[in-house]
Amino acid sequence: MNGSLAANSMLLDEIIAGLNTQKCDVLICPPVIYLPQCAEIRPAALLLGAQDASVHVSGAYTGEVSAAMLADVGCQYVIVGHSERRAYHHEQDELVAQKAVQALRNGIIPIVCVGETLEQRELGLTSVVVLAQLQAVMDLLDDSELGQIVIAYEPVWAIGTGKTATPQMAQDVHAVLRQQLMQRSEIAARKVQILYGGSMKPENAKELLAMDDIDGGLIGGAALKSADFLAIINAV
Ligand code: PGA
Repeated sequence: MNGSLAANSMLLDEIIAGLNTQKCDVLICPPVIYLPQCAEIRPAALLLGAQDASVHVSGAYTGEVSAAMLADVGCQYVIVGHSERRAYHHEQDELVAQKAVQALRNGIIPIVCVGETLEQRELGLTSVVVLAQLQAVMDLLDDSELGQIVIAYEPVWAIGTGKTATPQMAQDVHAVLRQQLMQRSEIAARKVQILYGGSMKPENAKELLAMDDIDGGLIGGAALKSADFLAIINAV
């Protein structure tokens, strides 16, 4: 929950001025209220996404924003199952999976977040947790839909804390996720991008992004400073 009309405009101008999208896709996911503003400012090469979507199609759900509404204002992606939604809004794996389905039905690519808490990691449950989170989504999608999603591995203990998973720790989880996709569909497994998120910054981006199964980053805090965000883009 960051930004304002004035701050977004300044940040976007700086990002657009330094943008190099020849080497990678660049996506911004502002708070929903600022989507129209960003849709108007952004060049075609800068992709637009939302931070969440309702699981409902339409109707009496005051305060909710549907995937169709997001598509209506030019959204191409939506994050579902961010750990903050899971923790503060009690979103369960099944609900997150249904949100992914709603997004796809409306032509929006869901970015499905998975990740373990520190306690789960210390108990040796990292793979069990992330695989269950992914499986819930896999259960609701056919192979071709599965190939369209993006996954973001975000260890909860690394988000906004300054603590980053080491490249090898992240790679190990990404490989487990890829393997799970592979068991279902080799084509989908090759297509799906698996992003790493959790205190990614200019100092660690290159090493993380160099790992075999890390296809990109989901950047929080560092995306609020244009120089840092651009440095991460350049690290790709
Ligand atoms: P961070 O946030 O980069 O600040 O850790 C990541 C996120 O919110 O997903």
